[in-house]
Amino acid sequence: MHAIIGTDVQAAASLLRAGELVGMPTETVYGLAGNALNTAAVANIFAVKERPAFDPLIMHLPDLESVAKYVTAVPETAIALAETYWPGPLTMVFKRKDCVPDLVTSGLDTVAVRIPNHPLALALLKELDFPLAAPSANPFGYVSPTRAAHVQKQLGHKIPYILDGGPCTIGLESSIISFAGPEPIMLRKGGLPLEEVESILGKPLAVNTHGSSNPQAPGMLAQHYSPGAAFELLKETDEQSLRQRIDAAPDDHAFMLFAAGALGNDKRVFDLSPKGDMAEAASQLFAIMRTLDEAHYTRILACLLPEAGLGRAINDRLRRAAAK
Ligand code: TXA
Ligand code: MG
Repeated sequence: MHAIIGTDVQAAASLLRAGELVGMPTETVYGLAGNALNTAAVANIFAVKERPAFDPLIMHLPDLESVAKYVTAVPETAIALAETYWPGPLTMVFKRKDCVPDLVTSGLDTVAVRIPNHPLALALLKELDFPLAAPSANPFGYVSPTRAAHVQKQLGHKIPYILDGGPCTIGLESSIISFAGPEPIMLRKGGLPLEEVESILGKPLAVNTHGSSNPQAPGMLAQHYSPGAAFELLKETDEQSLRQRIDAAPDDHAFMLFAAGALGNDKRVFDLSPKGDMAEAASQLFAIMRTLDEAHYTRILACLLPEAGLGRAINDRLRRAAAK
């Protein structure tokens, strides 16, 4: 089997109604979507991704009214975030109602929900009378897909259809905030910067993205988002020491830098954003990691970005890719 790539929302909807899985574009990354209320379809998501069953899925919905069908209560602060950022790169975790299958939540009493900001995803969700469970459409532990072709390459032999929504505009997974406890807590840094959330909350947000012993969000596992090549974070930061490092490196080493300036002229240097724009860097990150992997570099050496805004989520992915 080889997936058909197309823009036919009706075709995708028919397949999903029949319990099949479909590659779905979102503004963050491509998802592997299935009917969240059909346990056979959900089980197939885990099988296709080779994802461990302890890792719960996000339910994607078209609007706030439909979210209310699946969660017990949405606190005031969460409503404020929803009004500001949905549809958008924000996933919120709430106490769930019994109608949500255990398989979706890995048995947790909470469910993660998101309204994605992509015209094809929204059209598809509006067409359906059930939510879509959709993890990122990559084999478990690998870099998330940001193009339909990425999904085709890795999962195309296992699914019938990929809805092509073009390159993902954000390119990093959604930020996840849990409202399951007394205070909101960020479980995954993502496409919605921490600072933006805090500006709505009016106070600092607790962050716990390191639940390695009992991961609540396995995007939290220390090693994740890994390319096949060895991945190393550079300690060098100034141009001169980077220059020395690049000159001393063998031909099969690649360098992933940010605002590289003159260093970017070296053919082994891949610049996430020559103009130093974090949003551009985010949208290029996973595609460049894949390109380097496929070009058969044996080692990717990356520099961290400034630890602010989207730089936090980018650095989070870089650190996990480098973790042993
Ligand atoms: O941007 C995104 O969020 C993309 C697109 C497709 O929407 N989806 C995505 O899904 O990144 P996935 O499965 O790769 O990551 C979902 C994360 C996992 O780390 C999972 O552990 C966490 O969400 N999660 C899901 N349900 C949860 C829950 N009830 N409590 C805490 N974490 C949860
Ligand atoms: Mg994922």
